[in-house]
Amino acid sequence: MEEYKFPEGFKWGSATSAHQVEGGNHNDWSEWEGSAKRVEQLKKEGKNPDDFISGKACDSYNRYEEDFDIAKSLNQNIHRLSIEWSRIEPKEGRFDHEAMLHYVNVIKALRARGLEPMVTLWHFTNPIWFAEKGGFLNVDSPTMFTRYVKYVVDNLRDRVGLWITFNEPTTIYSTFAYLMGVWPPHHKNLLSMFTATNNFTKAHILAYQEIKKIYDVPPALAETSLVSHNVMVGFAENNAYVVISRNWFKGLAGRIYNYFRNLRFISKVAPYCDFIGLNYYNLDRKIFKNFDVLPKQQFVPSKKWELYPKGIYYRLMDLKQFKKPIFITENGIPNVIDGERISFIKDHLYWVLKAIHGGVDVRGYLYWSLLDNFEIVDGFPVRFGLVEVDFETFERKVRPSALEYAKICKTNQLEIDS
Ligand code: BGC
Repeated sequence: MEEYKFPEGFKWGSATSAHQVEGGNHNDWSEWEGSAKRVEQLKKEGKNPDDFISGKACDSYNRYEEDFDIAKSLNQNIHRLSIEWSRIEPKEGRFDHEAMLHYVNVIKALRARGLEPMVTLWHFTNPIWFAEKGGFLNVDSPTMFTRYVKYVVDNLRDRVGLWITFNEPTTIYSTFAYLMGVWPPHHKNLLSMFTATNNFTKAHILAYQEIKKIYDVPPALAETSLVSHNVMVGFAENNAYVVISRNWFKGLAGRIYNYFRNLRFISKVAPYCDFIGLNYYNLDRKIFKNFDVLPKQQFVPSKKWELYPKGIYYRLMDLKQFKKPIFITENGIPNVIDGERISFIKDHLYWVLKAIHGGVDVRGYLYWSLLDNFEIVDGFPVRFGLVEVDFETFERKVRPSALEYAKICKTNQLEIDS
């Protein structure tokens, strides 16, 4: 048995997002999920539409304390969640103070359990009014987004020290929503995609600057401020391992694709962030198959993903160029025999540690997801959780992999049979 120690103070946890766990959200996604067109399409595919409507999700809006009790019992010391913009600003410019108070209580509940909050301000969903104004195609979207961000950060500034502006704004969202047309608002237009990615870039920079201004003044109540001096603001982007061919032409094409797939947004916003959040799941052979370079890897049918744990090492080594601390903000596997989940985690952690030894400043690892939840587009059948959820009774059941992961979180080290 070999032991692999992580750096002191390394953070261990898991991640969720509001729309996927809270339940009862009304936003552009819930509108689409329940639309006649979507329901009809699902029926045609022989699927049960109820499985694809977020509805009550995990009911975490009401059960968050139970969720955090579980995370704490699993020795986790950080938790990533998102704030639902449509709850905070249901009508343009009108902020719902009760909704805000709810999130203040959520953050207090995390802190009370010794879990450091990492708060995402946008995780795919938009208020209806914002979507109706064109969403991130609207030239004013950066200002509209930042107005909401300021309200939230003003109210949480003394309790949250890790902020994420956007989750996967360009690599995933802009591609699926504006180019491939498979996510709301279903555009299939290269220009729309570039307009959206530009607006996300502007919005991130503006929000970053405004958040920093909020922390630029002394804490309101010094004795209650838990974070005042070392607040960090970043974003979470998805990176996939792109298999590059040895052939010069294919290799060049692969490198260009890699830039657009993984680096374009990060290159632009890197001067305006205190950390990078890396969501890593799979490898990507979209440009060329390149089986000559890398043979077929383990395949996850429910997501059509090919897994490649060493890819996280390569992505981290590549992101080192930006000279920023990195958190693994998501990494997970769905619908497997649970034993495979812990192997998945360990295999990735092994390569994360290799990257740390290679000089990458990795600060923490957050598994996706704490709970089985409402998977974006794929609905309830696709289960990522360390904790199993019964979507009828909302009963939570800790999976054996969660207990194994808890050992790693507790000892801050990985044990691998040699
Ligand atoms: C997203 C999550 C999603 C996960 C698994 C990530 O790209 O941020 O919302 O559930 O992938 O598909």
